Amino acid sequence: MAWPPAPIKTERLVLRESEARDRTAFIELLASPEVNKYVGGPRPREELERETPAIPERWPGSFVVELDGAMIGQILLRRATDHRRPAAAGKADLGYLFLPQSWGSGYATEACAAALTWFDHTLPGEPVVLTTQSANIPSIRLATKLGFTELERFEAWGTEQWLGLRSPPRTA
Ligand SMILES: CC(C)(COP(=O)(O)OP(=O)(O)OC[C@H]1O[C@@H](n2cnc3c(N)ncnc32)[C@H](O)[C@@H]1OP(=O)(O)O)[C@@H](O)C(=O)NCCC(=O)NCCS
Repeated sequence: MAWPPAPIKTERLVLRESEARDRTAFIELLASPEVNKYVGGPRPREELERETPAIPERWPGSFVVELDGAMIGQILLRRATDHRRPAAAGKADLGYLFLPQSWGSGYATEACAAALTWFDHTLPGEPVVLTTQSANIPSIRLATKLGFTELERFEAWGTEQWLGLRSPPRTA
């Protein structure tokens, strides 16, 4: 897979590789109690200030989502090599984190849909899985809008998890 792709433009957003100017937003994202409520809890800000590299999260499959020139979130597409559920193991896995001030405007839907379209062109015919806590209603709502359907629920990390699957679009 060629990485990074050219920046992906949607109606309101740009998806691109991370840059040094995103560092503050990444720290905000990982320190925010609201963002991390269902994803393992926030990390201490001092620790993040100390340990975050100059250009954070620069790896194939990590998209910064930008609105009007500033980062509002991150989309992650990774290979779930060590997923604990056999149905998900080895498949591409979608994750997303958006800053709270950007919630409620459809930005996550718009950005994730664009990332999935890019994925469908880059690795045609591949399904995508998504794991989120069953209690994370906004996340399940987003996953459903993106075409994920529930495969199963399972217990992990002390709480119930929702595993969704998005089948690849049919090619003509
Ligand atoms: C999961 C998460 C990304 C969802 O964010 P979100 O803002 O609810 O999702 P969207 O950006 O797609 O916005 C959808 C909402 O915007 C509204 N909206 C407003 N304008 C809109 C527009 N132009 N287009 C589409 N939707 C619009 C929709 O009606 C919807 O509102 P509703 O939830 O009241 O129905 C966000 O809650 C988050 O970052 N959570 C923390 C991280 C996390 O838990 N990640 C999951 C781990 S996989």
